[in-house]
Amino acid sequence: MSSEILKTKNLVKSFGGLRAVDRVSMDVQERTLTILIGPNGSGKTTLINLITGVYKPDQGRIMFDGRDITGLPPHEIFRLGVARTFQIPQPFRKLTVLENLLVCCNNPGEGFISALRRRAWTRFEEEAIERAFKLLKLLNLDHLWDQESWKLSGGQMKLLEIGRALMSDARLLVMDEPVAGVNPTLAHEIFRSLIRLRDELGITIFMVEHRLDIALQYTDEAYVMASGKIISRGRPEEVVMDPQVIEAYLGG
Ligand SMILES: Nc1ncnc2c1ncn2[C@@H]1O[C@H](COP(=O)(O)OP(=O)(O)OP(=O)(O)O)[C@@H](O)[C@H]1O
Ligand SMILES: [Mg+2]
Repeated sequence: MSSEILKTKNLVKSFGGLRAVDRVSMDVQERTLTILIGPNGSGKTTLINLITGVYKPDQGRIMFDGRDITGLPPHEIFRLGVARTFQIPQPFRKLTVLENLLVCCNNPGEGFISALRRRAWTRFEEEAIERAFKLLKLLNLDHLWDQESWKLSGGQMKLLEIGRALMSDARLLVMDEPVAGVNPTLAHEIFRSLIRLRDELGITIFMVEHRLDIALQYTDEAYVMASGKIISRGRPEEVVMDPQVIEAYLGG
């Protein structure tokens, strides 16, 4: 049986008079791909910003892995094992794919890249390289390890961004619309990579995604937000049939 890795209780975040997140209580089960959907402006990105520490909630609590992380700054939350990808990948273009992962390691120390180029590395560096290759393999990027990143396709850059986020030993990966603007073939490839990461590394994925046509078949559980509130939760094929959800989309 799985257990919850992330839990929020009555989270509230207002901007001026607008309650962007309005008493949101939810939980994400470990080793699942959990998706958050909802009409534009329903508060999805704000909720993700609360979970990753970008915003502090006005009210409510956030628990990660049994620990209260409410109000912690983003780097602390990251250090505890919550990684995040952004909509626009920003790799170091001149570095290779492998180097891009290695510079993301906790405390790589000075000269990590030059050590790599000299092929004289320490145990710590060896472990990082091992982890990097494991991730690259799961992401189907291992054959590109020595390519300079600027040569990658848009979809490969997104995969690299996921790899970079996971070099930290993160247990929860939070993503905001990871396949926005990606063609369907690549979008499926990205989802299949995420499923491999879930199954082989035990990583939990919590994502906002509009492209239900693509995401649904990979999704373990779905939450739906409208006007700052969670209005439905369950198996993805069930929530999309929920009359309240249909109304929120049509009315929104
Ligand atoms: N920093 C901010 N300052 C003021 N208002 C904000 C801020 N961030 C979000 N909002 C408002 O809060 C509401 C929720 O926004 P949010 O970006 O969380 O929605 P969303 O569900 O991610 O929408 P989308 O699907 O368009 O990405 C919107 O009305 C938005 O205008
Ligand atoms: Mg958003």
